[in-house]
Amino acid sequence: MLLTLLYSCTGGAAVLYALYRWIIPFIVQYHAGLALIWHDKFVEGMLDMLTRSTRPQRLLAAVQKNATRGDPRSVVRAIDQFCRHKEWAMNVGDEKGCILDSVVSEANPTYVLELGTYCGYSTVRIASLLSPNSKLITVEFNPEYAKIARQVIAWAGLQDKIHLVEGASGDLIPKMQEMFGVKTFDLVFLDHWKDRYLPDTKLMEKCGLLRKGSILLADNVICPGTPDYLEYIRNSPQYESQYFKSHLEYTKVEDGLEKSVFLG
Ligand SMILES: C[S@@+](CC[C@H](N)C(=O)[O-])C[C@H]1O[C@@H](n2cnc3c(N)ncnc32)[C@H](O)[C@@H]1O
Repeated sequence: MLLTLLYSCTGGAAVLYALYRWIIPFIVQYHAGLALIWHDKFVEGMLDMLTRSTRPQRLLAAVQKNATRGDPRSVVRAIDQFCRHKEWAMNVGDEKGCILDSVVSEANPTYVLELGTYCGYSTVRIASLLSPNSKLITVEFNPEYAKIARQVIAWAGLQDKIHLVEGASGDLIPKMQEMFGVKTFDLVFLDHWKDRYLPDTKLMEKCGLLRKGSILLADNVICPGTPDYLEYIRNSPQYESQYFKSHLEYTKVEDGLEKSVFLG
């Protein structure tokens, strides 16, 4: 009787673990809505409660455990490993990250603006490819995320190339010239909340932060999607725009990056 009960409990626990660890993650990777509900609501909430820590704190711990200090690529690798095998997180990710890398390398920018830092994953990717006199300004309005990002950036040894500014993009964009003496940006990576892409693009235009040839690179244009931004950028005679098809970070759901060159 006791043995039967023990077998049932062990069997039940094994089924639950398999569901949590492999079966549900396998199924949801093909469905955007389910993936975000599962990873962002259920798993994150449950692990926060059980471990009394936050996802960014767990991500930082993975970096400190598995990445080499002063080696940006090992930091990127440690975060990708964590997000593929432990916990999904909203970094641009390894697949779209390769597209980001090639756009940065090709543009060879001096001044880069990133909207949306989160834990600093894309910040590290971009800054590691910049030439010695280049600067990356990255904007994040969540102080908890900014605190983690600073530590991730420092672990990568890139703190001298990066200014992390805390605040809302809409407040900071008009202050870029006054705060950093930047006249125009060569490259802007848009990866903050999706309803801000269009207003912030228009704000950058209004503030004169774009020059002929400036590149806007926008993440998540399909998932979660930025329809108003795409409509604007693809139809405006001021931009030449190109879509790079890929997948939502760490899933098989379609997503992509939109690269738009400002024509002046
Ligand atoms: C998708 S995550 C950024 C991921 C990061 N670029 C990466 O690939 O590692 C979006 C981030 O933008 C921040 N954010 C959203 N809207 C913002 C705004 N208007 N101003 C500043 N930060 C914002 C959020 O707090 C979040 O951390």
